[in-house]
Amino acid sequence: MIVLGIESSCDETGVGIVDLADDGTVTMLADEVASSVNEHARFGGVVPEVASRAHLEAIVPTMRRARETAGIDRPDAVCVTIGPGLAGALLVGVSAAKAYAAAWDVPLYALNHLGGHVAVDTLEHGPMPPCVALLVSGGHTHLLRVDDLGSPIGELGTTVDDAAGEAFDKVARLLDLGYPGGPALDAAARDGDPTAIAFPRGMTGPRDARYDFSFSGVKTAVARFVEKCVRAGDPVPVADVAASFQESVADVLTLKAMRACEDLDVDTLVLGGGATANSRIRSMAEERCAAAGVTLRIPRPRLCTDNGVMIATLGAHVIAGGTPPSTLSVATDPGMSV
Ligand code: KG4
Ligand code: ZN
Repeated sequence: MIVLGIESSCDETGVGIVDLADDGTVTMLADEVASSVNEHARFGGVVPEVASRAHLEAIVPTMRRARETAGIDRPDAVCVTIGPGLAGALLVGVSAAKAYAAAWDVPLYALNHLGGHVAVDTLEHGPMPPCVALLVSGGHTHLLRVDDLGSPIGELGTTVDDAAGEAFDKVARLLDLGYPGGPALDAAARDGDPTAIAFPRGMTGPRDARYDFSFSGVKTAVARFVEKCVRAGDPVPVADVAASFQESVADVLTLKAMRACEDLDVDTLVLGGGATANSRIRSMAEERCAAAGVTLRIPRPRLCTDNGVMIATLGAHVIAGGTPPSTLSVATDPGMSV
């Protein structure tokens, strides 16, 4: 069965195509992404109107490219992200999905973006046992419990303020590192001392929610530190600030992920989302998983950022699990939870 997935929840227009075999194996046939990230750079963050317009321009050519790459005229099912995400951006993908599903007379599956970030790992690492998933990107920070990709996923915790990637971008801006700042901050941190500045670890006190996150405190602490340097006429130690900030975020993320694995007696941790490209988040997760005897699964960076093939892959698992399709009147759900 050929399954096509459309993703348009943020600034990436993605169309992916997978083959779902009778034994449940899912194989990637196409993964086409058009990003509007450069159009947002001068604003220092994603501008919803700009993203929606870029999706409108990109959706048809991206669909065409994906079908050409996969060598198929029409799929057997169309899947689409209905949320969470930017309302106008989601509308473009969902409208396109409905139009194509109706024109091709194939079923439509309305899917959750977060489930896609988890499911995409099966393309690289095969069937997924019950696991904890940690999703970190510019738009989300979620700790999830996954028993079966074909069934609803449970949320253990999320951020009460900024997403982790958003905090990276904001701190990178404070340090004049450009946009999107995550990769630049990661690079700057390489020359810094992660123990130079003791930035706070948000929501890690004994009375704090066990699985929720907060990154506004560490972001404010960085802002205060930078202000203090400027006021004193001292140069900002960019590498040390970057390394110390990154250490705080990686520490909190992996601490809570390991805690969830231990509490739930789960021995597999899956990472997903664009910020899992961060070198320290990866290395700390590797160290802590190795110490705890937990298997760590991280898809390659290309699959961690937003794309259509993650939606096609989730769709394949949902279809294999026997979930009925959606109707053509299904609506977008920008605030959708898992
Ligand atoms: O998944 P993604 O491509 O889009 C969203 O759904 O947000 O993630 C992009 C986010 C941005 O905030 C970016 O700064 C962050 O992931 N990011 C990183 C790194 N690479 C990307 N953050 C920290 N370190 C990195 N190496
Ligand atoms: Zn995402």
